[in-house]
Amino acid sequence: MQSFTFYNPTQIIFGRDKVAELAHLVPASAKVLILYGGASAEKTGTLAEVRAALGDRVVQEFGGIEPNPTYETLMKAVEQVQREKIDFLLAVGGGSVIDGTKFVAAAACFEGDAWDILLQHGSNVTRALPFGTVLTLPATGSEMNNGAVVTRKATHTKLAFMSRHVFPVFSVLDPTKTFTLPPRQIANGIVDAFVHTVEQYLTYPVQGLAQDRFAEGLLQTLIEIAPKALAEPEDYDTRANLMWTATLALNGLIGAGVPQDWASHMIGHELTALYGIDHARTLAIVLPSLLNAQRNTKRAKLLQYAERVWHLTSGSDDERIDAAIARTRAFFESLGISTRLSGYDLGSEAVDAVVKQLETHGMTRLGEHQDITPQVSRTILEAAL
Ligand code: NZQ
Ligand code: ZN
Repeated sequence: MQSFTFYNPTQIIFGRDKVAELAHLVPASAKVLILYGGASAEKTGTLAEVRAALGDRVVQEFGGIEPNPTYETLMKAVEQVQREKIDFLLAVGGGSVIDGTKFVAAAACFEGDAWDILLQHGSNVTRALPFGTVLTLPATGSEMNNGAVVTRKATHTKLAFMSRHVFPVFSVLDPTKTFTLPPRQIANGIVDAFVHTVEQYLTYPVQGLAQDRFAEGLLQTLIEIAPKALAEPEDYDTRANLMWTATLALNGLIGAGVPQDWASHMIGHELTALYGIDHARTLAIVLPSLLNAQRNTKRAKLLQYAERVWHLTSGSDDERIDAAIARTRAFFESLGISTRLSGYDLGSEAVDAVVKQLETHGMTRLGEHQDITPQVSRTILEAAL
């Protein structure tokens, strides 16, 4: 097992009706800014619950954080925070709102051009405002991690940053908040959590026995609950399992002490930045093709994945690997998510554009062996046409 440091200070408050706990979770004297996305938080009644729980605290609001949050929008929130001397942020939404809040928390305390936070991937963040979250969409794990992804609209640049200063202080996870999600977002959430797990599991063996079993358990849980999560939106236990599984997939635990890939994410971010494809859908396009292209360096783990996750035990090594990749693709497609660029009306011009953007953003040595060069990315994307 590789050496590691594990740190995760986020308190999780999980269950039905837990939004009311904000009354105790947010400091009584805080000057609070609630951040949210489009219309959903108001329409579902979650914002009303949040306002009620905050009681007579001084509270302001900032709405309009878009999916794939933009730097341009978030800087308006930063201005409000500084102008109004806000000292506590509360994100109400999915990964985009939470990521956006992380950026606002860091940028409000940052001296200099805040875009540098993204350019330096967070290494220059030395402090941030404290913030909590009310999660409404299980997918990203942002509610219990220290990463965020922000897009600069003007240049189609989608970059991530990480900092120990942007872990949420707390996150409220009420599975009933997911009941209003459209099937498209549930499907996205399942795929995102699945690929987060794969990016930290399907690399090469380092004798991380518990991490492997834990990752396989998360993958099998997602496969098991997926049909019901789509068909029965108000099945509490199914949604509770989806919510907690998605959190566990990217809260640092399964990634501790093992190699990590993340190439599907980096290539996928370019597809979102250029063409606006939902984050999870970009992963569904890239991952099956990437697993096939990297089958030699990932061979041992692909065979383990085939056997333990998909119970594939007959045939040659290559046949079992082929079958495991095919099952992965079929799983994504069964959720209504196309795994081909053509499913999004994109052709070879998109391959050229993505490869060019990867080069511009320095994404030229991706993967657990840093062997995914722009040429390999091109091969992966061409096989996904
Ligand atoms: O904007 P509103 O009206 O609120 O609607 C949202 C949005 O349109 C809607 N929604 C959210 N909760 C709802 C709801 N609709 C009905 N009922 C509810 N309870 O869902 C839509 C999508 O929301 P969004 O937050 O964009 O989705 P998601 O949680 O998938 O977040 C995606 C973003 O997270 C980043 C992605 O790159 C992308 O920008 N990621 C963040 C990560 C992290 N911080 O660790 C890791 C991930 O790999 C990912 O990159
Ligand atoms: Zn993701």
